[in-house]
Parts: sequence; structure tokens; C-alpha cells
Amino acid sequence: MTEAQFIPKPYTKTVESGKVTWESPSNIALVKYWGKKKDQIPENPSISFTLSHCKTITTVSFSKKETNNAFSFEVFLDGENKDDFKPKIETFFKRIEVYLPFLKDYHFNIETTNTFPHSSGIASSASGMSALALCLMSIEKQLNDAVTEAYCNKKASFLARLGSGSACRSIEGDLVVWGKHGNIEGSSDLFGIKYPYTIHENFKNYQDTILLVDKGEKQVSSSVGHNLMYYHPFAEERFKQAHNNLSKLMTILESGDLNAFIALIESEALTLHAMMMTSMPYFILMKPNTLEIINKIWDFRKKSGWHIGFTLDAGANVHVLYPEKESNQILEFINNELVAYIENAHYIVDKIGLGAKQLTIDN
Ligand code: PMV
Repeated sequence: MTEAQFIPKPYTKTVESGKVTWESPSNIALVKYWGKKKDQIPENPSISFTLSHCKTITTVSFSKKETNNAFSFEVFLDGENKDDFKPKIETFFKRIEVYLPFLKDYHFNIETTNTFPHSSGIASSASGMSALALCLMSIEKQLNDAVTEAYCNKKASFLARLGSGSACRSIEGDLVVWGKHGNIEGSSDLFGIKYPYTIHENFKNYQDTILLVDKGEKQVSSSVGHNLMYYHPFAEERFKQAHNNLSKLMTILESGDLNAFIALIESEALTLHAMMMTSMPYFILMKPNTLEIINKIWDFRKKSGWHIGFTLDAGANVHVLYPEKESNQILEFINNELVAYIENAHYIVDKIGLGAKQLTIDN
């Protein structure tokens, strides 16, 4: 599939106004995306668990305007007008206008809220951009009856990618692949697809407890980090490694080998941060407590034999991953030994989710 296939034929219907609401989850990568070409085309394929509780709920109300020479929209977060979000959305609209030619025909009110606190260090760009892309696709569906659900999902993922790369993995569940991989049929650099092969019982309902080590603003944004992969001395090897790790993970997902799973995802997380530390300029997003937690996890795993592992995103927070059947023991360990290292003892118990959901449709 190429970009051109997402440019719609002239719309068959007219709609004056309406309102659509979607909720869309966050996701956590197991094999990481770090490094991109133009327009969020990834340098390597990645795969993620879709989350269940960490999500954004977005309502878009739209009404036809007299002129169609400029974008017109307002953004609200938790009911408050957010003018500082506007430049990012304006850029997003410019990038996707060719694929959604109705964007200048309407005024949009975009009301959004997150189930996780804004200052939690959990990025809302994946859930936020995917929720907005899905709302826009619901509007396109009203303008063209022929649009199928499968096409809506694919195009929503394609559009979300243009807003924020990893957002394209937040449309469906429970595991999503984004980026062309030779052994994964249907995989594409343009959008995420539901992982199409067998997943062992061990990974059903896999748990992700997010330990909020540092709720502050990141010192280095993801886009700056991605760009630093351009002249990175280890970039080519890293991109090859991601391809290989995804191949290995496919075998692990089928066999249910939890020890191999943990080794792979922890190596991916530390490699991501190693890329940051070996960029020029270099930077460190982990905090002392991130390392304390990692060491505690390793210690506990060795002593107890429970299948507890971790991954990290581009920040200091730790995602503790474990199979559902070991939840009691691992939550007890988190409560007894890890809460001391997290801000205000704040953590979020989440798990694998099934993807975005439309909440209301009201023409
Ligand atoms: O989608 P972005 O540009 O915020 O990049 C996300 C990068 C990581 O979260 C570090 C890895 C990933 O694959 O999600």
C-alpha cells in the first residue's frame, strides 16, 4: 500500500455538523522505534503492547463554515482552553490535509481528557493523536458511506503516525507491529497492524504496572532523540538488531518462553537508553531511582523465580511487566520494595488492552 491510496475520491455526502467521541489507549513498545526518516517513516520495525487503562478520550464537534481557506479549531484539555496545543495540531492538520480534504470546510472543537495525570511523565501523544485521528475518520465515514471499518482503522493508524510516530500503534490491540519486517505479512512503514500470528496463553492479559519515577517534563524530547540517530555511530547496527529481535520475539510469543521474553525486552529497553547516552550530544533520561528499581527487580527475580521484567520508554518511568497469574506476588513486591523509589508512591496498574473504542456518534 502506498500513501496515495489514502487520498479519498470526492465525497458522496454532505454533513452540516456533528459530534464524535473516541477513547484510545497508550502503548508500550517491546522492540523499540528509535530513529526515523521523513514523515515518521521508522528506520526499523517495532512492536508494542496496547494498554488498557491509560487512555485519552476525545470528542470532536464540527460545524460547516462559510469559507474554506484556513483551518479553524479550538482545543480543550479537561474543559480548559489550551492554546499551547494549537501549533502541534495545526502542523498535524497541514500534514494530513491531502488525505482528509474536508479539514478546512469545518470548524472543530476538540475536547480531550486523559485517564492518567497530565504530569505523570506518561506521554499522551500516542493516545491523543490516535484518538483525534479516529474522530476525523468517523467524520470522513459520514461523508462517504463506502468506507469500511478495516479501512478506517488502517487510515486512522496512517494519520496518527503523521501526528506522532508511535501513535499508529494505538488503534488496535493486543500486540501491534509497525514497520516493514520481512517475516511479518502485511507489515508496513506507513501504519501499524495487529500482530497476525499465534500468541501463547502466557502473554494473554499480560500486566504492566507503571512506576512513576519522575513526573517532570523530559529534558530531551523524542523528536530530538530520533534526529540524533541520523549521525549516530551505532545506528546501522541498532536498526539491524531491531529486525533480529523482532524475529526472535515472534518465536518467543509462540512458545511462551517467559525467560527469553524478559531477556529480550530488557535488552531492548537498555539499548534504547544506550543509544541516547551514545548520541552526540549525549543525554540521560533515566534517574537514580530508575536504576535502583531495575536492580531491585533483578534481585527479586533471581531470589524468587517469578517472571518479573521491565521496559522503559523515553523517560525515567519503569514499566514492570509480568504474567497475570503472578500478579499477587509481584504487586506485593512492588508495594513492599519499590514504592520507596517512586514519587508520592504513585504507580498505575495497567495491562494489555484491546484497542480504541468509539463511544458516541451524534449527527
Ligand atoms: O512516537 P515518538 O516519536 O514519541 O517515539 C516513541 C519512542 C519510544 O517510545 C522511545 C519507543 C517506541 O517505540 O514507542
